[in-house]
Amino acid sequence: MKLDRPIVFGNWKMNGLRADGLALAGTLAERAVRLTGTLGVFPPFTLIHAVAQRVKDTTILVGGQDCHDKPSGAYTGCVAAPMLVDAGAKAVILGHSERRHGLGESDALIRAKFAVARASGLLVVLCIGETEAEYLSGERSKRLAAQLDGSLPVGIGPEGLVVAYEPVWAIGTGRTPGREEIALTHAEIRAMLGKRIVGGEAVPILYGGSVKPENAAEIMAIEAVDGVLVGGASLDARSFWSIYQAGGGA
Ligand code: 13P
Repeated sequence: MKLDRPIVFGNWKMNGLRADGLALAGTLAERAVRLTGTLGVFPPFTLIHAVAQRVKDTTILVGGQDCHDKPSGAYTGCVAAPMLVDAGAKAVILGHSERRHGLGESDALIRAKFAVARASGLLVVLCIGETEAEYLSGERSKRLAAQLDGSLPVGIGPEGLVVAYEPVWAIGTGRTPGREEIALTHAEIRAMLGKRIVGGEAVPILYGGSVKPENAAEIMAIEAVDGVLVGGASLDARSFWSIYQAGGGA
């Protein structure tokens, strides 16, 4: 899958009933006739099929927000990677901080999910990010390296992987790291990926955490930023599209 810059992904989280979700997807589909970059939406499981149908004549990518670490079985309430594919998803977010911290997901679990997702042909959007305490105590790099070590399956190639750097303290708070900090951290992550994966420097790295139409241009002007993973502002078609345009997308 070729991912042209800017890569702008919207994580709807646990938001959207059928009417709103389809209206949002419909507005994006009308604008996205010939995309110059990569636009993707990650609706809740219940809307993946309907949204995928709604955008099927465009190159908008549809993904899931999580998957199980087994391809099928007796796991009540869970959703497997092959089911996401069957519903029309091409990608999946793994390791989001709301699952790591809110639901106690470990790096080992994320690694197991990663393997099943890739075996199912899904693009994996792997989220990593430090907490505020780790940020303040200067442990950011150590934490990011540990998350990559723990959650990347051994021996994988760079294909089918996007990394999203989402500082936990920037998610939903209106706070973001400074320009220089984002540039530095992305460069560090790129070097870490190069050490762990043959050709890993080519893996796109997105920034996520309080991306809005007001700060999107500045963030996406950073050379080391290949795009953004947007939460709240992706629920409004106009905001989401203006973030995409701010990154040079049309
Ligand atoms: P916000 O854009 O709402 O801060 O959320 C970011 C995020 O968690 C995207 O995955």
